[in-house]
Amino acid sequence: MKITVIGTGYVGLVTTCGLASLGHQVWAVNRTPAKVRKLEKGQILFYEPGLGSLLKKNLKNRKIHFTTNFKEAINKGNFVFICVGTPPLADGRADLSAVKKVAKDITRYAKKPLMIINKSTVPVGTGRLVEKILAKNSHKFNIVSCPEFLSEGKAVKDFFHRDRIVVGADNKLVAQKVMNIFKKIKTVKMITDLETAELIKYSSNAFLATKISFINEIANFCELVGADVDEVAKGMGLDKRIAPYSLKAGIGYGGSCFPKDVKALKQMAAGNGYEFKLLKAVIKVNNLQRRLVIKKTKEILNNVKGKTITVLGLAFKNDTDDIRESAAIDIINWLNKLGAKVKVFDPKASKNAKKVLNSKIIFCSSPKEAAVKSQLLIIATEWSMFKQLKWPVIKKLMKKPNILDGKNLLDRKTLEKYGFNYVAMGK
Ligand code: UGA
Repeated sequence: MKITVIGTGYVGLVTTCGLASLGHQVWAVNRTPAKVRKLEKGQILFYEPGLGSLLKKNLKNRKIHFTTNFKEAINKGNFVFICVGTPPLADGRADLSAVKKVAKDITRYAKKPLMIINKSTVPVGTGRLVEKILAKNSHKFNIVSCPEFLSEGKAVKDFFHRDRIVVGADNKLVAQKVMNIFKKIKTVKMITDLETAELIKYSSNAFLATKISFINEIANFCELVGADVDEVAKGMGLDKRIAPYSLKAGIGYGGSCFPKDVKALKQMAAGNGYEFKLLKAVIKVNNLQRRLVIKKTKEILNNVKGKTITVLGLAFKNDTDDIRESAAIDIINWLNKLGAKVKVFDPKASKNAKKVLNSKIIFCSSPKEAAVKSQLLIIATEWSMFKQLKWPVIKKLMKKPNILDGKNLLDRKTLEKYGFNYVAMGK
């Protein structure tokens, strides 16, 4: 099939490479010529394991064509995927300006009827809004919602091995045609209406965020009663109705999705006259969880001012260079404000973090360098490389052997054996 993808961010580029790997011809649109030139050379604009090689393979097979020419690209086939950003506005609502611009441009340039498939995370009703904009074109367009469920860091795997594909449309025949694009992917395939598909995406992200805030509250309670949150989560997760996923306690959720989508769903509900009480609490718990790191730091060091503190991890989670809404960034800023000398290391996200962090923050090229003369080492991202560190060597480099494990990544017994004072979250 001939498919057009508008947008080459996480969702757009993974969709482009994934669809090409399924055998389709894909025209991917980015309006910036310099970015298109890079993409044509197989260079991706962010770090995502496996995506670079998938892109190169499909460029070689001539399955992917990057272009700045919107008009030409949308008239290539019958399917147009909208994969543009919907960042949060100041009040938490999703900013739909990029989606609206795409809809207006399709209205202007489409020379035939098209199936417009929205993959961007958009509030319920956006499909109808796009439909209204497109009504100005003389051709008939079918509006479809096909929400994306990939996670950063494992997006390529998520494309091919997903729990479900959801397609929402007014016309079931149209929905089936869109579903056929994914014929080669074996998974549960659900066809529903437009509004329901849009809400499935928000509800899924909000529910996962709720699980995380729930386990973080259990973690805080564990500390009062001497229980171990990881063991509690393990025991809970054995119940198939609960499942073990998204039950890792720590410094709360970050990233470009959960914080934005939970707020947007709360706002969407409010806009329709419904107060989403639970989500208010989910957000509050998540904000407090980051602050807890500062409280624990003060307990360990007494006074933060003038102390050297190491933060390992800048990305919002492992296997990505994305620092959007990363708890690590907030924590570093707070420590810096309190007068600490903060030394940081991340295997991939330093370049992005340098753009937002204060010039006083010291960026190091290895965990060892970051640990030198430190009085406290904080784990802020769950990179697996931190588990493999030679901790006895790190201990020798530090001034005081304090570890605050914000991600419950390390093994308490091993670290205590090496002589560390090990503090975790909910243990
Ligand atoms: C999330 C969803 O997991 C995807 O299904 C969805 O498609 C995506 O948002 C999206 O809307 O585009 P992502 O933000 O990439 O994916 O990352 P997650 O792995 O879900 O992690 C989000 C945050 O929660 C991270 O900060 C992570 O450290 C934290 N987290 C995750 C926990 O604190 N505990 C957990 O058990 C799991």
